[in-house]
Amino acid sequence: MSDFLTWASNRQSRIEGVLATLLPDPSHAPGRLYQAMRYAVLDGGKRVRPLLAYAAGELTRAEPACVDAVAAAVEFIHAYSLVHDDMPAMDNDVIRRGKPTVHVEFDEATALLVGDALQSLAFKTLSQPDLVKLPAMQVSMLNMLAKASGSAGMAGGQAIDLASVGKPIELTELEFMHILKTGALIRASVNLGAMCGEAHDPNTMKHLDHYAKCIGLAFQVVDDVLDAEAPTAMLGKTAGKDAANNKPTYVSLLGLARSRELAEELRADALSALSGFGPEAERLRQLADYVILRKH
Ligand code: IPE
Ligand code: IPE
Ligand code: MG
Ligand code: MG
Ligand code: MG
Repeated sequence: MSDFLTWASNRQSRIEGVLATLLPDPSHAPGRLYQAMRYAVLDGGKRVRPLLAYAAGELTRAEPACVDAVAAAVEFIHAYSLVHDDMPAMDNDVIRRGKPTVHVEFDEATALLVGDALQSLAFKTLSQPDLVKLPAMQVSMLNMLAKASGSAGMAGGQAIDLASVGKPIELTELEFMHILKTGALIRASVNLGAMCGEAHDPNTMKHLDHYAKCIGLAFQVVDDVLDAEAPTAMLGKTAGKDAANNKPTYVSLLGLARSRELAEELRADALSALSGFGPEAERLRQLADYVILRKH
């Protein structure tokens, strides 16, 4: 585990540097927007999606520069989704990553624009010339990020989330919502990281994708559990917000104990998808443990 923590902290420092370099310089105009973009992205966050991209890239012996770009692109989309998620029209949250949310620290119009600009920066980053050897592969990667972020992914899941407030919802619908709003980007993080590397047979990619799908859903199940049982100081965001906002969650539908069990089942499923791999998949295995056992 200490070996994993060293690896993770090394990759977290690495992505911090990459993000800081890619973000615009706030000494230029429009300085306030640039400042707010940096505020939203830097100094905070577990960087789970970049870690998954790095781990998958290491498995396929990917070019580090390509994985850096993938890791930054998914984190920009994620940060944008958080800024919008916290706005009054959505979850109306005032704390994120232990600091005031972007619309509180700046203003609502700036928060909207931060999301818009971070989304564009994600696609700019992933569309850099010569990121991978085959241009067609890069187009597939851009297509994958677009799908994971858009109406069939994160944005679509958020729409279902908001439309379901205060309404009874079936477990299948809740699962669909979670797979879209959180699962899609996590799944893309693993697949994109792997796509930076050597070409692998479809079977390898299929197993990685199954792992990623399980981890993506498990991540939101654990997020729902932590919202109900962890304190604000630990979470860096307001605890108990799902119940206060009348959100359908795994906890509201199944209760805490069954939700924790389900996260465990998903971890087992994710790990079994990696059973055909050797030590090259160890970081992904450790990340499965981290996603399920995390305390914030
Ligand atoms: C929170 O994501 C929002 C969800 C998609 C559940 P994270 O828990 O990854 O948030 P940070 O990036 O660490 O702040
Ligand atoms: C948000 O889910 C998922 C996103 C796409 C941002 P939540 O609304 O549960 O995320 P938190 O709990 O505010 O981080
Ligand atoms: Mg939300
Ligand atoms: Mg929220
Ligand atoms: Mg939540």
